[in-house]
Amino acid sequence: MKRLLSLFLITFSFIANAQNLLIIPPALTGTSFNLNVQSGIQSFYTGINTPTYGINGPWMAPTIIVNKGDSITLNVINGLNVKTTMHWHGLHVAPENDGGPHQIIQPSTSWSPSFKIRNQAGTFWYHPHGAGQTDLQVSKGLAGFFIIHDADELALNIPQTYGVDDIPLVIQSKEFDILKQIAIAGKMDTALFVNGTLDPYYNAPAQVIRFRLLNGSSLRTYNFGLSNNQTFYQIATEGGIIDASLPLTRLRLSPGERAEILVNFTGMLGQTIYLKSFASELPNGIYGADTVGYGADTIHEYHDNFLNGADFDLLKITVVSPTAGAINSIPINLITYNPYNLANATNTRRIVMDTIRLLPADIPNRAEGPFGMNEKTFDMDSINEIVYLNTTEIWTLINKTLVAHPFHIHDVQFNIIEKSGLPPSASETGWKDVVLVMPGDSVKFLTKFDDFSNDTVPYMFHCHLLHHEDDGMMGSFVVIDSAWALNIQEITNTNDFSIYPNPTNNFWHINSITDKPITGYTLYSIGGEIIEKKQFKKSLSTFTIINTSLSEGQYILSIYQKENTQNFKLIKQ
Ligand code: C2O
Ligand code: CU
Ligand code: CU
Repeated sequence: MKRLLSLFLITFSFIANAQNLLIIPPALTGTSFNLNVQSGIQSFYTGINTPTYGINGPWMAPTIIVNKGDSITLNVINGLNVKTTMHWHGLHVAPENDGGPHQIIQPSTSWSPSFKIRNQAGTFWYHPHGAGQTDLQVSKGLAGFFIIHDADELALNIPQTYGVDDIPLVIQSKEFDILKQIAIAGKMDTALFVNGTLDPYYNAPAQVIRFRLLNGSSLRTYNFGLSNNQTFYQIATEGGIIDASLPLTRLRLSPGERAEILVNFTGMLGQTIYLKSFASELPNGIYGADTVGYGADTIHEYHDNFLNGADFDLLKITVVSPTAGAINSIPINLITYNPYNLANATNTRRIVMDTIRLLPADIPNRAEGPFGMNEKTFDMDSINEIVYLNTTEIWTLINKTLVAHPFHIHDVQFNIIEKSGLPPSASETGWKDVVLVMPGDSVKFLTKFDDFSNDTVPYMFHCHLLHHEDDGMMGSFVVIDSAWALNIQEITNTNDFSIYPNPTNNFWHINSITDKPITGYTLYSIGGEIIEKKQFKKSLSTFTIINTSLSEGQYILSIYQKENTQNFKLIKQ
């Protein structure tokens, strides 16, 4: 009863405090984007200066808006005094453009990836990713929307005007320390922000409004709903628009997940409602629910945070006069959904999420961690999984812990095929790049690794609870092109290298005729399996492969130079 009463008072005080007009992040359009990462100061609490980070401003980041098919360049300029990275979450780009932990941007330097937009229309985002600093840098303000439009979406009768009837909402719970400085999210992430606005209100025109919901929190899952329990309509998952509007009164998003919803405020002029999280309805194990874990395996001091297990307001919405050209109805049919075909899957992979012992004597807490993926924590210098280009795969994610982990994979979007042994719910049927895996549960998804391969630069998969990620609950994979190994017509025939003897019985000398330095090589079987692989510490103009254990037959040798790879056929007699 005491708890209920205090919840009531807190909810009440949120209502009284909804006093800041919701910030709409400025939009950047075009094909060349300058992103100046900088530090700043904000005053969230009267008379107190809080150091923050921002992009092109002191706090939070602009929304990048592009079209499918555009070729764009992003100039990320690091004006912080610490290193950073910038990852385009959900975008299908080459690994060297992905902004993972390997694309470090040192202070006072910049990084300028260029790539073509291949994703379909949808709501993506960008944020730093690495060096154990993801949580702090995101919490301090480095998180922005990345919106993609395409012709199929623009043809729909849905709100399309950014900031007018198409409204991004990034929800973040943040933790402040006693000096009101933004801390990494521990257990007291009690300050709720929408688009970097504390205690926000929004004046919604009396018409259909499209909200792009992004859970940008470090830990907390939200169970979205409206205070009047009005039906809203989901129209997109992470990877884009779904096939038909889905009527809902609740929508759960874990960190990293996105959804687009339509809310029809037509005829509601003058009413006030709230976008809320009905977190009291979340089951055990989800960060933000009333309980996480059992017995001693629980999160310590979890109940000191009054948000856990409570229903709370996120955004006060007051309905005002409609705009010109308002949309007043919800379309039913949207976009044709063509998921991958299960019959094309040629490989399966298992990722087990479990606690990990850092010291043999450790007794890990199954709700608090530390956690790993397949018994390992992240290592910058190793590759955990090797995937072949153009392969369709089934991944099975298994959660052996007592806390739910939002699993995220870079490079691809996937189709969930099974969750707890059942087909996914309607609101998870669509293109996804994050899936919440419940304690004791398993999830199977289908995906395809196309367009980009790179033998040495990996992509990441990880838990999107940012402190789990920072603590190493992350693995890497490379996508390798073996198509040429199966098709010897693609073998290069140039005068750049001499390879002798060939055929031979146990060694080959390789020599760069042009004297352009060689940075490494990979030796493959004709079926595309890696036999040996070397990156030279110092570039060489000549090297020798000695391998006495090869059986007779053909092999493929990839020789790497800076920005150049050539493939040759080797014959062992
Ligand atoms: Cu949103 Cu690997 O990140
Ligand atoms: Cu990502
Ligand atoms: Cu996790």
